[in-house]
Amino acid sequence: MNASNILLLLIATVALFASVNLAFDDSENALKSQNVLSKSEIIQLNGAIGPESVAFDPNGEGPYIGIADGRILKFQGSSWADFAVTSSQRENCTLPFAPEMEHICGRPLGLRFDTKTGELYIADAYFGIQVVGPKGGLATPLVQKLDGPLEGTHDTFAELPGFPDNIRINSKGEFWVALQAIRSQLSFSNSEMGNALLKLPFIAQQLDDLLNGGLLHATAIKLSEDGRVLEVLEDIEGKTLRSISEVQEKYGKLWFGSVMMPFLGLYGF
Ligand SMILES: *[C@@H]1O[C@H](CO)[C@@H](O)[C@H](O)[C@H]1NC(C)=O
Repeated sequence: MNASNILLLLIATVALFASVNLAFDDSENALKSQNVLSKSEIIQLNGAIGPESVAFDPNGEGPYIGIADGRILKFQGSSWADFAVTSSQRENCTLPFAPEMEHICGRPLGLRFDTKTGELYIADAYFGIQVVGPKGGLATPLVQKLDGPLEGTHDTFAELPGFPDNIRINSKGEFWVALQAIRSQLSFSNSEMGNALLKLPFIAQQLDDLLNGGLLHATAIKLSEDGRVLEVLEDIEGKTLRSISEVQEKYGKLWFGSVMMPFLGLYGF
């Protein structure tokens, strides 16, 4: 991620926190964060890691997830099936997590279905935007990456217009935002501007250290169409969910993507 991107990310984040805090201050009944995400269920990925994005197809089947070894998996009621890949050169893509192989194996991040055609659009960190038909298989490039090779895994994604990586809209036009927050900071229920600024989301690569130190906890914020905070859910102690990259609302549940977790998290209202 280059300097201007980091700056943009910071500006966007500060803007988000500023509006979050205004919303908190303006509300007559201060909105309390709910420390409920530790009660999330998990769906094991059986050795796979990093279901960064979560998507359902137009028939409501799935979820579909992109994982660190480059595959896109589909959940079929009780188990995960291979659905698609972004690279045809997969003979050495045998490890669940091998960053040095990602430029060969691909790293699917954002997933979106075209609700009319059932095609799946995939934002791959190395191969750009790809598309695959409803039956899956090898995806084909739609938008090639313009710059040279990437240093980091998750950088391209932030550069791709129209694919914000952690803001998802639900059926009511409300937004769910996934945040990485540091556990030692005050939780949202006590938030003031100063504290909130310390809770800047972290860039994926920095997550390793923090996760290993056990410092992170998951925070999911629901915003109205006009940016008011409607709900804040956290796992303050990081008991179940520490790192979340995306929140998707479907079937009365929240589905949590993560670049690091070896499972998919879900929380029922
Ligand atoms: C897989 O690894 C072998 C042995 O290192 C190498 O010869 C081959 O080119 C690799 N294949 C790909 C697609 O990178």
